[in-house]
Amino acid sequence: MTSASPWKQDFPIFSSHAHPSLCYLDSAATCLTPKHVADAVYHYQCYSHANSHKGLYQLSANVTEKVEHARETVADFIGATSGASISFNSGTTEGINLIAFSFVEPILSDAYKKGKPSNLVISAVEHHANLLPWQRLAERYQAELRVVKITDEGIMDLAHLSQLLDNNTRVLAFSHCSNVLGRFNPAEQICRIAKRHHVPTIVDGAQAVAHGKTNVSAIDCDFYVFSAHKLYGPTGCGVMYGKTEHFEQMRPYQLGGGIVSKVNFTESDFVAGATKFEPGSHHVAGIVGLVEAIEYLHDISWPDIQQHMEKLALYLNTSLNELPYYQPLIVPSAKRLAAQPTEVASIVSFRLKNVHCHDVASLLDSNNIAVRAGHHCAQPLHETLGVTATVRASLGLYNDFSDVDKLVAGLDQAYQLMTG
Ligand SMILES: Cc1ncc(COP(=O)(O)O)c(C=O)c1O
Repeated sequence: MTSASPWKQDFPIFSSHAHPSLCYLDSAATCLTPKHVADAVYHYQCYSHANSHKGLYQLSANVTEKVEHARETVADFIGATSGASISFNSGTTEGINLIAFSFVEPILSDAYKKGKPSNLVISAVEHHANLLPWQRLAERYQAELRVVKITDEGIMDLAHLSQLLDNNTRVLAFSHCSNVLGRFNPAEQICRIAKRHHVPTIVDGAQAVAHGKTNVSAIDCDFYVFSAHKLYGPTGCGVMYGKTEHFEQMRPYQLGGGIVSKVNFTESDFVAGATKFEPGSHHVAGIVGLVEAIEYLHDISWPDIQQHMEKLALYLNTSLNELPYYQPLIVPSAKRLAAQPTEVASIVSFRLKNVHCHDVASLLDSNNIAVRAGHHCAQPLHETLGVTATVRASLGLYNDFSDVDKLVAGLDQAYQLMTG
């Protein structure tokens, strides 16, 4: 890799006078927007906007076609066999809630009525979005919420997983990649283990989809969810992939227009398929932006993206490791880092010895370096690892070696200022 990112110029924010020499290292929170995506959304809003699935006139029919075509694009992007398995929503959070209350809750309720015990299994790294819905359901149906431990490398401990799954496990929900540790779980292997116990699987793909080709067919999960904005698309738009055989038994948990085939004042019949989970109006601009983001990544190509990110991730980790006061939350083994740098290191969470994380982030901000500080919506994970907060730096396509150098210089300055 040359030291500069070949794609930085695609992101207008870097040439904006409002953010001079921005060093953006918070892509795990949200990715910045390439001009292609912003233009597509602008174009749609200015020249093609109408409501989908509602009007009989051409403008509306074109939008309906856009949305339906988007399902195919997304399906292809994540290796699903058909657009029929794709449902649009507002993001990963909504996707998980939808599955929790439309798919898992009826199963739990049924077991509860029959007096059977139930448990739900998640892992220790989960984002609150993949914890709170399960807490609510566990409480409602007196189910046990079991938490799989993580290894020293920050991935799911598979031996512990096997111990926790049993005939009363109603679901296994886990993140493909942790938003704090940046480690990829071996999703295929995990789903295989769950399958042996007949446990349905939900994969939170929020942090995984932008870092390499996702293949839900190979993973063989029952559901996979992600957000457009962590993929260089707009906020407020997300995707739930599900095996279509599940859709029939699922009842929509949010109700409204566009999802019914027949309604009277006492009852309603729902349409079949993924649309059943999309009440109200589609976020068409978001869907248009998502499709454009997918096409943008496609044009760059996964091998080029991965090559860039791997070199960068390795440089980030190596540079940070050289700081004597750097305390990473998890220390990736040198062997693992060398073998699969991206799989271990596009996101790093750390502390500086004797300096509060918020002070570090504020001092970095004064040098136009954007990182996140806090628990990153993974409070229990931080607690497990014995800390309350960390600084998180996460990489995107637009980053290059100079961003890492700026971060290291900024950290050094912050450390000297706070401890000198
Ligand atoms: C692993 C993970 N899951 C879920 C979410 C929630 O995503 P959203 O806010 O787009 O719904 C995030 C956001 O940071 C995340 O990193």
